[in-house]
Amino acid sequence: MARRSRCKRKGSHNLKMYRSRVAGWGSYLPERVVTNRDLAEFVDTSDNWIVDRTGIQQRHIAATGEYTSDLATRAAERALESAGVDASDVDLIVVATATPDQTFPATAVKVQADLGVSRGAAFDVQAVCTGFVYALAVADNFIRLGQAECALVIGAETFSRILDWSDRSTCVLFGDGAGALVMRASEAKPGTNSPGVLSTHLHADGTKRGFLYVDGGPSTTQTTGHLRMSGREVFRHAVGLLAAAVDEALEANGLEPDDIDWLVPHQANKRIIDATAKKLGMPEDKIVYTIDRHANTSAASIPLALAQAAEDGRIQRGHLILIEGMGGGFTWGSAVIRW
Ligand code: UT7
Repeated sequence: MARRSRCKRKGSHNLKMYRSRVAGWGSYLPERVVTNRDLAEFVDTSDNWIVDRTGIQQRHIAATGEYTSDLATRAAERALESAGVDASDVDLIVVATATPDQTFPATAVKVQADLGVSRGAAFDVQAVCTGFVYALAVADNFIRLGQAECALVIGAETFSRILDWSDRSTCVLFGDGAGALVMRASEAKPGTNSPGVLSTHLHADGTKRGFLYVDGGPSTTQTTGHLRMSGREVFRHAVGLLAAAVDEALEANGLEPDDIDWLVPHQANKRIIDATAKKLGMPEDKIVYTIDRHANTSAASIPLALAQAAEDGRIQRGHLILIEGMGGGFTWGSAVIRW
């Protein structure tokens, strides 16, 4: 019923304003846990080095035959359940991933089929570690424009499949996982107090793409390739870019750092998260950390952190959440959400 009346509004150019509201959340981590000590058995590293330099203690690794779409579907099912929404109500699925099941079709259509849905739009977004912020911005714009009413926004990755397990400078940093939000259209009210996505800001600078990339692909090598990173260069850029993205988000909404209840950053390195929070003047107890248990799960890290903090009761309805991320491309961005 609601859908029919919205279509009419679109057709008659009624400019009623919509905002996308978080209706539910879910996450999924593969069963197998690999500790730093496990890694030190086959690569020249140590628990001390990994913990000191990154804050990572362990990561989850997908089982043989367990694909990005499987992780995404499980997170999506939990998100739908938490929202009390039936899969048949979903009219948009956006999956942020840099590790799709296949070059095509999109992982999102596999998720769609696995959920038993065969209507609406479904596609992937590729912005590596900033992927979830990009996917949320895309879904938010669909909802604001009245093109979708109920969106699943998913970040899902199996980075274990693109790691060079003999390269200690990268293989210790990443893990697999998925997180999902159900976003529903609700009437937008002015100001920052009503629930929903208040702003999204996206950036990219392709001149920096050589600092973090995969050395393969269908059009270049016809192989999947492995992740390559100049860690020091990425680190050097990350803190400045993320601090600027956070400032931009606060300024756009007329907010002060104190107004934010939870900073939920992309989880690449505890030192990057802490340096960004320090620039913002944000105390540690307002930051959601998952880096110690999940490592860097790329596009999945932010929705995993959001879902886990919402599940354990830290994030509550009415809280103001600031998410930010940066990754290969470079890409970076932020969003402010009234939960
Ligand atoms: O999510 C996408 C964005 N990615 C990131 O944000 C990652 C950003 N970068 C980083 O987080 C850090 O640069 C790393 C964690 C990757 C590396 O930390 P670092 O403090 O920048 O270390 P480094 O690369 O400068 O290496 C220091 C030393 C080197 O040895 P020498 O040359 O000083 O003898 C490395 O060979 O640490 C050595 N090293 C290791 N040692 C033990 C590098 N990896 C390891 C390792 N175990 N796993």
